[in-house]
Amino acid sequence: MELEQKIEEIKDKAVASIEVAKNSDELFNLEKEFLGRKSEFNNILKSLKDMTDDERRKIGALANISKNEIQEAINKKRTELLATSFDFEKERIDVTIPGRKQEIGHLNPISRVQKEIMDIFTSMGFEIADGPEVETEWYNFDALNMPPTHPARDMQDTFWIKSDEMKERVLPRTHTSAVQVKYMEKHKPPFRIIAPGRIFRNEATDASHEHTFHQFEALVVGENINVGNFKFIAEQFFSSFFGKDMKVRLRPSFFPYVEPGFEFDITCAVCQGKGCSVCKTGWIELGGAGMVNQGVFVAAGYLKNKYQGFAWGFGLERLAMMKYKIDDIRLFNSGDLRFIKQF
Ligand code: PHE
Repeated sequence: MELEQKIEEIKDKAVASIEVAKNSDELFNLEKEFLGRKSEFNNILKSLKDMTDDERRKIGALANISKNEIQEAINKKRTELLATSFDFEKERIDVTIPGRKQEIGHLNPISRVQKEIMDIFTSMGFEIADGPEVETEWYNFDALNMPPTHPARDMQDTFWIKSDEMKERVLPRTHTSAVQVKYMEKHKPPFRIIAPGRIFRNEATDASHEHTFHQFEALVVGENINVGNFKFIAEQFFSSFFGKDMKVRLRPSFFPYVEPGFEFDITCAVCQGKGCSVCKTGWIELGGAGMVNQGVFVAAGYLKNKYQGFAWGFGLERLAMMKYKIDDIRLFNSGDLRFIKQF
């Protein structure tokens, strides 16, 4: 029968062209051409309704089988084309490989302690002041009542930076007290500030000495500030820092920029003041303090005897070592991850 032959012909032609299709575009067009709505094949299917029952059954069955064969050829070709155009080695994603772990950095315990201190002081109404790590001789020494020949300069063995003889000498600051006059030149009392930062001294290093370490300065100035204010604020601060009741003890001492001057001790955080192998006496020496010398106010441009204030300074490493029970100051800058990762 003519129609049956025709169907076979279409099918053979379709399968043959599908087999040699070179890419998916070509394949798409062939599918449209042979099976699409306007295809010859579709016309045959549409004409089924005008046939006799017998014919319809026969032709219909054949048409269906052929259509399936064409469709199969298309599917087979499609997979084939996909396999050759896709570089599985390169594009493969192995979803079973465990993810790469994101390394998260750690704050150095010094930064942590510095942040904690800033938090406590800002909660007490202090502002944070800052100064350069390389400072002029004036702010580090002279403005603090330490002219070049003053023996107090010997307390801080200084690294000097080579500079033009005509210019002012500069140095890596030996203490955060260098911030005092610099701040006061720009601000009128009353104020309360802290100035944490890095400082440098020509020290031989050992378990408790470093050439580069951190200090922390506090300066409170007004018309009515006294030593009692200092003691109260210091005790508040240390108690809140260590999370237990801490006392502060003053011993007379000398720094040219304070009058009177003290060294201050705090309750030993290990034995809580009872006396142990670390402190012997129940106290730990921590830093220097005193009432700001009027000469320092004058250097800052204030009127003599108009204001009073206290200043204190101490080493951050010392405090961090007590809080976290660290026994060697050199660990802070060792870069040793076994140390850093404990915090
Ligand atoms: N600047 C002193 C030191 O580094 C400490 C200090 C600060 C003393 C403020 C008195 C007042 O040792």
